Amino acid sequence: MILSGKAKVAGVIGWPVGHSRSPRLHGWWLEQHGIDGAYIPLAVPREGLEAAVRALPALGLRGANVTVPHKEAVLRLVDRLDPVAARIGAVNTLVVAEDGALEGRNTDAEGFLNNLRDGAPGWRSAAGPAVVIGAGGAARAVVAALADAGVPEIRLVNRTPEKAETLACALGGPVHVVPWFGRGGALAEAALLVNTTTLGMAGQPLLDLDLAHLPPSAVVTDIVYTPLETPLLAVARARGNPVVDGLGMLLHQAVPGFEAWFGVRPAVTPELRAFVLAA
Ligand code: ATR
Repeated sequence: MILSGKAKVAGVIGWPVGHSRSPRLHGWWLEQHGIDGAYIPLAVPREGLEAAVRALPALGLRGANVTVPHKEAVLRLVDRLDPVAARIGAVNTLVVAEDGALEGRNTDAEGFLNNLRDGAPGWRSAAGPAVVIGAGGAARAVVAALADAGVPEIRLVNRTPEKAETLACALGGPVHVVPWFGRGGALAEAALLVNTTTLGMAGQPLLDLDLAHLPPSAVVTDIVYTPLETPLLAVARARGNPVVDGLGMLLHQAVPGFEAWFGVRPAVTPELRAFVLAA
């Protein structure tokens, strides 16, 4: 795409940012919709974050995604914070408003839920308890999404129980902290199992979790998408559980940002998945 002088520009702020698939993902949508616009990687170290964020409106950019390690730090740099981002305690999407103000949003919860609904259309929030493994930044978005969707009970399991307690206190809702050693038993009667840790990612240790107590109808999803089928998803699929991979969360969380910057609500399609995966 050859840009005009009126091109709309957005990007992704991270450090490092070279591994990010977002430029490829947004670039595909820009191409598909024939938009006079660009989405660029913005490699910004911690010490440069404030200047970079302030530069977005100054340079006339439409906004940006924010990724590791800046999602929490960027919170205090925005002019307006949406309630979801405030609740989760992290911003993944910056939008420069008409009046030049910088808005901080978080679309990870929405992305998680839309991916789950897309990949497991039979899942109902009221169907039963959800078990969430992990209590880091990703878990905050997942727990907030599930609580807001009306899941009756969220069993939160983390190696370090204090972090799970802190998350449960911060988010409220029907969250019960389960000790790490009790994670296998916590799967009884569950309707959903979510891994939000990096365990099972290529190069990381496996998630040591016995699925024996998990009902065969329970949906199993992993936010890890390298590999696309994590060892957890492979075991779950082999025993007949519906499974949803983590790539869709990345794709779905990108939709609201693209719409805000470029004015078109894009679709998550199998072609997009294949294109992003082929990187
Ligand atoms: P993110 O913000 O991407 O979720 P994070 O804040 O570093 O990342 O959180 C990583 C999660 O993976 C945490 O829940 C962490 O457990 P602790 O709170 O006990 O550190 C979990 N995790 C990482 N390595 C783990 C391991 N070897 N065993 C169990 N849990 C692990």
